[in-house]
Amino acid sequence: MELCCLVEYLAIFMGIGLLGAAVSIFTKKKRDLNGKHVLITGGSSGIGLGVAHDVARRGASVTLVARNVANLEKALEDVRSTASKAGAGGKVQTFSADISGDPEKIASLVKDAESSQGPIYMLVNCAGFSRAMKFEDISPQLAKQMMDVNFMGSVIITQEVVRSMKQQQEGIIVFTSSLGGLLGIYGFTLYTAAKGALVKLAEALCQEVKPYNITVTVCYPPDTDTPGFEEENKTKPVETKLISESAGLFKADEVAHKLVEDALRGSFCSTTGFEGFMLTTLCAGMGPITDAASFLAQVFLTGLFRSISAFYLWSFDRIVYQEHQKRLASKKSE
Ligand SMILES: NC(=O)c1ccc[n+]([C@@H]2O[C@H](COP(=O)([O-])OP(=O)(O)OC[C@H]3O[C@@H](n4cnc5c(N)ncnc54)[C@H](OP(=O)(O)O)[C@@H]3O)[C@@H](O)[C@H]2O)c1
Repeated sequence: MELCCLVEYLAIFMGIGLLGAAVSIFTKKKRDLNGKHVLITGGSSGIGLGVAHDVARRGASVTLVARNVANLEKALEDVRSTASKAGAGGKVQTFSADISGDPEKIASLVKDAESSQGPIYMLVNCAGFSRAMKFEDISPQLAKQMMDVNFMGSVIITQEVVRSMKQQQEGIIVFTSSLGGLLGIYGFTLYTAAKGALVKLAEALCQEVKPYNITVTVCYPPDTDTPGFEEENKTKPVETKLISESAGLFKADEVAHKLVEDALRGSFCSTTGFEGFMLTTLCAGMGPITDAASFLAQVFLTGLFRSISAFYLWSFDRIVYQEHQKRLASKKSE
């Protein structure tokens, strides 16, 4: 009898949950970018450039920030052409700057960008890079640069933009982490630390800015076909390649489109592909609850996904062990 009651309660709970998820999916209001100003760091290449095209098509005015001037000019032309083909009236401008550089320069960049295109409504922190190599092979200079660009680069500009967004009482902030920011992967020690730190920063910031009608989204790209990914592959240990390729290779435009859609809905997590969904669900912990569908997935699927994760972790350990054995064998045969 007691077991029956428990089953009934569970069924009611799940029914209410599913109804909540359906209501949340169909009623959550997606914000509109037409006429708004979007600033994208790393907007001259890869995922950031994909975001620039996507928001330009939606009628936003776009500011692209990166270091290489020639790449910025090429991106400016391409994004302008996308906007005009879409019949959208947004402007496009570029600024050459190192986002991990002098905070005063970043502050004046934000001021200049706003004085020509209005207050920034959406900030997409996309600039970043990774170098996959064994922990002891990473020089202290490279380790610092990875933290400076991937973590501090997002901190400095976001602090500037948050001040302005709080005055406007609205805004969207996006951080670009990585699936590697959610779990440790062979070869990604420093990169995982930098991208993981962004996630915790975003969770805390989300609480701070909520009363100002500002939302925070963290994008977790899987392996994505970009110039940055090509560069990363040059030094990638074979173990890292074998482990990370299990999640597949995605197109930059696909990841960018999902990022924009999720950010406009105010979702805390943005992922592409099954592995992304599984990892963000599994690692939700005390992260913000921004929609019923993700919350219910976390409540009902965490146990199942933790069981599946055991198989992934076992296969990762196996890859590392096998490659280690291969190296030992080739040393013996020398
Ligand atoms: N592609 C992937 O598989 C993947 C997977 C997970 C996460 N991510 C993350 O997604 C983001 C975009 O990656 P992506 O593959 O699209 O990279 P990408 O093609 O290499 O583009 C990186 C962009 O960031 C800019 N940038 C780099 N360092 C900068 C700095 N110090 N100051 C200002 N701008 C800087 C680059 O321009 P300049 O060099 O001219 O400055 C470029 O515009 C990164 O944060 C990356 O870590 C990528």
